Order: sequence, then C-alpha cells, then structure tokens
Amino acid sequence: ANRLRKNWDRLSPWAQENDISCFRLYDADMPEYNLAIDIYERFVHVQEYAPPKSVDSQKASERFTTGLQVLRQLFSLERSQLFIKTRKPQKGRSQYQKKQREGKLFVVHEGGAEFLVNFTDFLDTGLFLDHRKTRARIGELARGHTFLNLYGYTGSATVYAAMHGATSTTTVDISEKYLTRTQANLSLNGYGGPLHTTICADCMQWLKSERGRYGVIFVDPPTFSNNRHRKQSFSIQDEHEELLRLAMEHLSREGILLFSTNFKKFSLAPGLLRDFGVKEITDQTLPMDFKHKGSAHRCFEFRHRNELEEDAS
Ligand SMILES: C[S@@+](CC[C@H](N)C(=O)[O-])C[C@H]1O[C@@H](n2cnc3c(N)ncnc32)[C@H](O)[C@@H]1O
Repeated sequence: ANRLRKNWDRLSPWAQENDISCFRLYDADMPEYNLAIDIYERFVHVQEYAPPKSVDSQKASERFTTGLQVLRQLFSLERSQLFIKTRKPQKGRSQYQKKQREGKLFVVHEGGAEFLVNFTDFLDTGLFLDHRKTRARIGELARGHTFLNLYGYTGSATVYAAMHGATSTTTVDISEKYLTRTQANLSLNGYGGPLHTTICADCMQWLKSERGRYGVIFVDPPTFSNNRHRKQSFSIQDEHEELLRLAMEHLSREGILLFSTNFKKFSLAPGLLRDFGVKEITDQTLPMDFKHKGSAHRCFEFRHRNELEEDAS
C-alpha cells in the first residue's frame, strides 16, 4: 500500500500538469508483487506477470490477491472500474493473438485525441502507454509529410500523424482486427477517406512490392511472432537489419524513420550504423512513468547518410 501511495503521490501531479490521463502506476517495483498497474482515466487495468520459477506459485497468487485488495481500498474502486489479466510468458507464439469474444471498447484521451481501448479480450489494451512520447514526436515530425506506420497495431501513431497535419497516412498490419480498430480510431478523431489507407499485409512482403516513398516512417515490430499468414516465424534480433534496409528504401531523401523495439536484449546490426545516420533517442521517448526501469522500449531515429552529412556542412 505504501509503495502504491508513494507512486501515486509522485505521478499524479506530473500527470495532471502534463494533461496525461492514462499512465503506468506500478510495474513490478517490488519483485514479490509481480504485476503492472495502469490507470486509464477512471479505470484501472492490472496485469499479473507470471511468477519466476523460484517463487512459490501459491505465495505469488496470495500476494496478487493482497495487491488487488490494497488497490481497491486505496482508490475506492467499484468492481466495474477494475480489470484484471493474468499474463504468462509466451514461447514461440505472438502475444497479440486474440481471444474468442470481442468485449466492450472504452474511449480514453491522450494528446488531444481519443482512442478506443479494450480491457477484457487482449493482454494489451490497444494503446501502448510507453509510446506516449514517441507518438507525440511522430505528430511533430509528420506535419506536411506522408506518413507510413509499419506494424501499425491500432493506429494510435497514425492518429497523431493525421491530427498534426500529415498529408496522408498508410498503416500496414497483418491483423484485420487491428486495422478495423485503426479505422475506428481514425474516424473517432475525424479522419478517414482515401488519404488514410490501411493495408492488411505482412510488412516485409509488402515493402518488397511497394513503390512509394514516405516522409516519416514508424516501425514498431513485435519481438517475436509466429503468425499463421507467415511461413516462418519472425524474430526482431535476426530480422531487423533486412526489415530496416527495406523500410529505408521507402524513406524520402530528407525523411526520418523511427524504429522501436521492446526486446530487452536487442542490439542494432553494425551494418545499419555504417550505412545510415542512426541516433538512439530512447531517452527522449521513454516517459517518466516508464523511466525508472529504463527498459520498456528502445527507440532509434534513422536518416539517409548523405542528408545527415549535408546537414552538418
Ligand atoms: C506494434 S507490434 C508490437 C510492438 C510492441 N511495441 C511490443 O510490445 O512488442 C504488434 C503489431 O504487429 C502486427 N504484426 C505482427 N506480425 C506482423 C507482420 N508480419 N506483418 C505486419 N504486422 C504484423 C500485429 O498484428 C500487431 O498489431
């Protein structure tokens, strides 16, 4: 209870000051309470992490129950405001596979936009909170440019780009469900029509046949995925070089590509550092509610080399 109160006292003034209504309150800060707690306006979303093998599972589940009781009391939560999910590490399968039923969608706010979130069907809600600042950066960069969102998920970055004046947006994802949510998120904010395209495809395959160039590209692939549409599985460490080389072929001469990964042991291929202007910007994209652990994601900015050199001269 003390830790939660302390986190609340630290984060809620910051959130208010910055007009942030969805943020991470607690992220396994104490190893014996192995859960993540996210505030989404009047709702609280709790994910239980699977306990490490060294921890007795009976003890872990008792502590989880205690954690929930504390949370209910501290925030005087009604049943309908609390959503609880159990999360076990997945081997070889995507974490983003859907469950059978689609539950209720709620509207939450971020950066002047509205987003649909789902608290019941997926491990993730549809809005990755660690990317709040990445989305804001995309908004700043996209003004007056064409925007390409690869592995676009629910299109939250696309909404930011549209809202901040991108001339067109293209969102590519392999999941029809997520693209439907992308379209819904766009409509909710007043965007749609032929300037905002969603494409259901495997990103690597699509990049090989696409001819267009874009001013701003966001690439946020899964760490691993074994999608039924793909013959072989995808691993970010093994395939990021090929993926980013393909994506850079579609970046305009002065364009900027942002690449993000959640893979904790990620290391960028040296060939990419040699051939492109690359800057790690994780410090600028990790928000305060994810900074203490320093490892929610890593984010890199890519440009074509000749542009970078011309800039410097
Ligand atoms: C945005 S990534 C997840 C990145 C996230 N930051 C994380 O926690 O790892 C998830 C999205 O990638 C999509 N996806 C997975 N494999 C894909 C593929 N081969 N081509 C296109 N989209 C894919 C999924 O449908 C999902 O919407």
